Amino acid sequence: MEVTFNIFRFNAQFDYTPRYQSYQLEVRENEVILDVLNRIKEDIDSTISYRRSCRHGICGSCAVKVNNKAVLACKENVYKLVETFGDALVVDPLDRRLAIKDLIVDKADFWRKYREIKPWQISEIASSPMSENLIPPAVVEWIEGADSCIECGACYYSCPAVRVNERFLGPHALTKLFRFAADIRDTAAIERLDTANIPASGIWDCVKCMECKVVCPKEISPIDKITKLHLQSFVRSRAPNNPATRHSKVFLRSIEKRGRLDENAAVRYSLGLLALKHVKTALKMLRRKKLPKETAPIEKIDEVKKLIEIARRNR
Ligand code: FES
Repeated sequence: MEVTFNIFRFNAQFDYTPRYQSYQLEVRENEVILDVLNRIKEDIDSTISYRRSCRHGICGSCAVKVNNKAVLACKENVYKLVETFGDALVVDPLDRRLAIKDLIVDKADFWRKYREIKPWQISEIASSPMSENLIPPAVVEWIEGADSCIECGACYYSCPAVRVNERFLGPHALTKLFRFAADIRDTAAIERLDTANIPASGIWDCVKCMECKVVCPKEISPIDKITKLHLQSFVRSRAPNNPATRHSKVFLRSIEKRGRLDENAAVRYSLGLLALKHVKTALKMLRRKKLPKETAPIEKIDEVKKLIEIARRNR
């Protein structure tokens, strides 16, 4: 199949503006994006730059964006991409603003935030231990692959919260933080949860868009790990009192009471006095009969209560 690859070209040392360069190639069914980049570099244009190393989806260095979707170049089959996007593909660096040369980005912010969460096990280990320090299968299950992250950056550079808030740690760092906070051999769980709960940089600034889950090439689902950090923060009393945590509480209370979300109560309880800034909008909605009505509990509310109880017991 003949495919056109429009590849982002930019050299931060010499260029004022970036450009796209088109390459047309005959692609075989089993080829991935990295095969194409290698062929371009070896046979057509040796000036093109990109990162790669293992070629087996392990080192995480080859992540790029194809038609705005973050992918591992060594894993993403070209035919499949053509099925989704058509036979003209646009290959970009993970973040065009951070391009150093072509598809290579400066990941300094990514690594700085990664270091901030202390991505190593903190514990006193005897210099000559007499036995292995094992963790039970249930804990491994709870960690749920968080230790398989290859730090490719696909989730981080797709996260809208990172785009608008440069302090937000991002899905990669919070996943790693969870991995150690959940590990019973680590002795710094409380300190880690406190880091996770810092306003503006922590878990309560995740906007739950699920993009990290969609793009993660290792199917780790960072959003699930962030949700588990929410839970751990409540269970270990580290969650601060802020609109986001109150929103979680009112959500539960509302489901427990009525079996559905009471949107009016959610705004009042989550925002407290801050809700006053929405009075104008509320009046407008009231005039247009768009304000949600107070709702009666659903018919089988007792069953909902039982389910909540079971979830609490199994937490
Ligand atoms: S080259 Fe190592 S993950 Fe793609």
